[in-house]
Amino acid sequence: MMKRTTLLSALLGIGLLAGAPAALAAGGEEQHITDYSFSFEGPFGSYDQDQLQRGLQVYTEICSGCHGLRYVPFRALEDLGYTDAEVRAYAANFFVPDTGPDAQPGDEREAGPTDYFPKSGVANAPDLSLMAKARAGFHGPLGTGLSQLFNGMGGAEYIASLNTGFTGEEKEEAGTLLYENTAYGGYLGMGQQLYGDDVEYADGTPATIEQEAMDVAAFLMWAAEPKLEARKSTGIWVVLWLALVTVGLYLTNKKLWAPHKGKHK
Ligand code: HEC
Repeated sequence: MMKRTTLLSALLGIGLLAGAPAALAAGGEEQHITDYSFSFEGPFGSYDQDQLQRGLQVYTEICSGCHGLRYVPFRALEDLGYTDAEVRAYAANFFVPDTGPDAQPGDEREAGPTDYFPKSGVANAPDLSLMAKARAGFHGPLGTGLSQLFNGMGGAEYIASLNTGFTGEEKEEAGTLLYENTAYGGYLGMGQQLYGDDVEYADGTPATIEQEAMDVAAFLMWAAEPKLEARKSTGIWVVLWLALVTVGLYLTNKKLWAPHKGKHK
């Protein structure tokens, strides 16, 4: 409960200060973040398992080439509706250092459910395990931060906007190619990855660029905060309980003072 209160006051503080961060962008230009709507926003929001599965597919087929998810264990994929056997089969696509008794240094074995996704394969590509909580999304009407207060920090909106926000402009700086992106607010070292139809979804959903970007963003939100739903429902019960206590105290107070009221002579 303590945690929740600190979170709320932090959000309030950010909400009040949001005018400033809205204009501040990593790349020095103004950021444009689309107010994508996700199923997990709002006090009653929850993850859409089908979307998380599609997001895992986009991550696996496209992003994992460069970005790791080193804090996510494979067995957490059971949250997405996969069976133990499916998780084992997925993990077996990855290799981890073998530390068994007979292993020689440098030996590798197939990963199992208790192993973690690999680290980033490309040195300057950040790990994405916590990325959805490290970036802020849509700041709400007029940069008020109201959207964050009600919908959460919106890291998923940022990730989706980043993947749909490439302008096609490039420049070279100190021998590296940089790509202009409206969500980043300037040039970054990652080029456009999604164009639409980059994956073929098993559930038949049309793979438009927005769909892919939102699906992978939702998956990364889950990776960063798998227990979001439990936290939200605890929060709702705490609020209801506090409301009940408030009514109780009000009535008690009234009853205690009733005999003394109107007796001043
Ligand atoms: C070819 C390698 C490569 C692929 C594939 C790739 N990225 Fe990146 N990504 C990078 C690099 C490099 C950076 C760091 C760029 C920088 O900081 O200038 C980056 C940065 C990011 C960032 C952080 C941006 C910020 O605000 O600092 C996010 C989020 C991200 N990538 C998401 C994704 C997603 C989602 C995918 C899959 C759809 C993906 N990336 C695919 C190389 C890649």
